[in-house]
Amino acid sequence: MVTLKINGEDHTVDVSPDMPLLWVLRDVVGLTGTKFGCGMALCGACTVHVDGMPTRSCVTPVSAVGEKKITTIEAIGETPSGKKVQRAWLDLEVVQCGYCQSGQIMSASALLASHPNPTDADIDAAMAGNLCRCGTYPRIRAAIKQAAQSESTPIKGA
Ligand code: FES
Ligand code: FES
Repeated sequence: MVTLKINGEDHTVDVSPDMPLLWVLRDVVGLTGTKFGCGMALCGACTVHVDGMPTRSCVTPVSAVGEKKITTIEAIGETPSGKKVQRAWLDLEVVQCGYCQSGQIMSASALLASHPNPTDADIDAAMAGNLCRCGTYPRIRAAIKQAAQSESTPIKGA
């Protein structure tokens, strides 16, 4: 049995220690917002946060997570950076098919949490591992910049 801290709740699951975190999230806990793309740490679709760090859950065994806090796309909107990223994503209509987008949002949210005003180079470095077959990259970049702007600007009603 392994107890994982996911989105602020403890989940005790009966899985093999070497099972990838992605499988546990989707198939055992039922959090299907995190997507399976390549299974080889090559596409970023499976990105979650582990203690705030963007992490490829498809190649992360649950035994490597331990007591660390896992945040998934289902709860990223409850974090300051995630909330602003999701708002910018909606404002700029970033999404096309959507398959890659939970991973994109997780990487972008981690970027803004660590770099509130990222440079283009910061964005390139943080987002390079998140692939989008629909080519939404220009909108992703614009949305990250808009979200960063909102970091320093009070939001009406917030
Ligand atoms: S599914 Fe994990 S990086 Fe592609
Ligand atoms: S929106 Fe379709 S793969 Fe990125």
